[in-house]
Amino acid sequence: MSFEDLPGPEKPKEPKTKRILSGMRPTGKMHLGNYYGALYNWVRLQEDYQCYYFVADWHALTTEYETPGPISGFIPEMVMDWLSVGLDPEKSTIFVQSAIPEHAELYLVFGMFTPVPWLERNPTYKDQIQELAHKDLATYGFLGYPVLQAADILMYKADGVPVGVDQVPHVEMTREIARRFNHLYLPTFPEPEALLTEIPKLTGTDGRKMSKSYGNCIYLSDPPEVMAKQVRQMTTDTQRPFRKDPGEPDRCLAFPFHRLNLPQARLDEITTECRAAQLGCVDCKKLLAEALLENMAPIQERRRYYEAHPGEVMDIMHQGNNRAREQARRTMAEVREAVGFNRKFQLAP
Ligand code: TRP
Repeated sequence: MSFEDLPGPEKPKEPKTKRILSGMRPTGKMHLGNYYGALYNWVRLQEDYQCYYFVADWHALTTEYETPGPISGFIPEMVMDWLSVGLDPEKSTIFVQSAIPEHAELYLVFGMFTPVPWLERNPTYKDQIQELAHKDLATYGFLGYPVLQAADILMYKADGVPVGVDQVPHVEMTREIARRFNHLYLPTFPEPEALLTEIPKLTGTDGRKMSKSYGNCIYLSDPPEVMAKQVRQMTTDTQRPFRKDPGEPDRCLAFPFHRLNLPQARLDEITTECRAAQLGCVDCKKLLAEALLENMAPIQERRRYYEAHPGEVMDIMHQGNNRAREQARRTMAEVREAVGFNRKFQLAP
């Protein structure tokens, strides 16, 4: 046995030098789609990177400007879920966008040199306008959505931005904005990369996209009996009308959830038994519900803790805001210098 193998205090980890930043619009409680699609990854990244995770409430306002009322209630709900899944305020800076007015200032500066055609060409913009046809999104703010996102990312000089594919054009535009700023003024910003999160193909219980408005979600905070009921309601292989018919996991909407919750050996068994008509969908979903409830138990326990201690959630957000703001102020001082807006004209502190 070498010295290295002896048990002892853990070797200090290398200092975390790379930065990660990501945000979510406050939509309320998080569901399993949010968890497996994003949060799970956010939690893992904390171990190796300096992480900034924030609530994009101004981004929410771009589409909810007519009825912004619920947004402020959604913020603590969402942050409580982030903490429950294991985001650790000691490791990650968790903050609220609108608490850092520098984001708006940087957005303004970027707006000066971002060509309008870049924004009009943005595929996410076109998709969203169509999808949200019932809202009037022919606004300046909605067109500028990616410019605000670029300000979020570059403010903290993030190296990596974990996002889903729909957000890749925004990260791409952020790189272009960084390049343009660096070229016009002074090299100031790194060009961040999108870290594509491999998103498991999870649908809502009825097969449509998991979405609050369809009522087909399983929320992290759903009580166990509600979770179990939602699992029971999941659409399985529609080409297997009877228990005696062989089934096909690839056609089953519950199976992607099995994949995330059961060990491989168990999955193989289930697959074989399903195809051989040995295991029925009702029993199969019972197995899923058990595994899911077990995996969610620690998350739910932490959530109960934070529900009982809402002041702690507030403190965590405030501390995160303060930390984020320090960095934001440093960046904005550099930006003002780079653009040539000298401090001497400003008010005394
Ligand atoms: N546009 C992102 C979404 O809808 C949210 C967001 C805002 C974001 N600012 C960001 C994500 C900065 C990553 C980085 O999901």
